[in-house]
Amino acid sequence: KTNIIIDCDPGHDDAIAMILAASNQDLLNIKAITTVGGNVEVEKNTLNALRICDIIGLEQVPVAKGAKRPLVKDIEVAESIHGESGLEGPNLPDVPTKQIIDTHAVDLILEILHNTDEPITLVATGPLTNIAMVLIKEPELKQKISEIVLMGGGTFGNWTPAAEFNIYVDAEAADVVFKSGIPICMFGLDVTHQVLATNEEIAKLQNINNNVSEFVVELLHFFTKTYQDVFDFEGAPIHDACTIAYLIDPSIFTFKHVHVDIETKGEHSYGMTAVDRLGVTGKEPNVHFATEANTSKFWTLLEKSVASYS
Ligand code: BDR
Ligand code: CA
Repeated sequence: KTNIIIDCDPGHDDAIAMILAASNQDLLNIKAITTVGGNVEVEKNTLNALRICDIIGLEQVPVAKGAKRPLVKDIEVAESIHGESGLEGPNLPDVPTKQIIDTHAVDLILEILHNTDEPITLVATGPLTNIAMVLIKEPELKQKISEIVLMGGGTFGNWTPAAEFNIYVDAEAADVVFKSGIPICMFGLDVTHQVLATNEEIAKLQNINNNVSEFVVELLHFFTKTYQDVFDFEGAPIHDACTIAYLIDPSIFTFKHVHVDIETKGEHSYGMTAVDRLGVTGKEPNVHFATEANTSKFWTLLEKSVASYS
């Protein structure tokens, strides 16, 4: 089994990543879920993480609240995409049953790394603040991290013309992570925009007809409407779920091993991931950059995972 920690800011697509992970625990050992400020403030993201855990039956997995704001800048949220609560659409109880543990996310990740004999994969589906703090606090523990699988960046932006949201929110943190030397598997917009929830896919999920499918369909109705209104898209990209789908079945994706630098200074390019696809820098590759998704495999996996709740 792959040992994973999911660091997230749920978030509609983060929720779907969590569902994929929870329904494939024969392959994935979920050591913890940690939250970070991103789509909305960390308090709200944490409440959402707990609510999602209640729905998908992740009673045993610890949830810890993480960084309130990026390393250097103020927090910038994406209510325009995820709504005021960060998870608009489904009707969720105000007070979740599950509670957070009394340890900061960064300390929980460090504690898990200290106590493990087995390598840990960090899955990041929000800004990289917590992960950078882990690497800054105890850099020697990076040998215990086998891979960082993240959603972020790409060769175009969705928050500015140059930058994708997760990287833009905390580009300084992303810079720490991308320079860490830990193998990085990156799902940027180039690939996540291939994985679009269309009406046809949503109808298939609806037919499954259980609690979780109902939840996913409500999430996707809101998310597709947002993408229609904001970006004029037919269908919503299920960005974050690509990370977990890859860990379950790597054959869904095609990669190129490239060098990626994070822009932290540019006036128009702050938060850009400079992806050296043609090798012009001559720098050692530090990222497995996902270029293509086999979408039919992806949807089959998601349908099977959601149906496993029946
Ligand atoms: C990323 O930003 C968030 O809105 C999503 O949850 C995803 O992690 C896409 O740019
Ligand atoms: Ca996210």
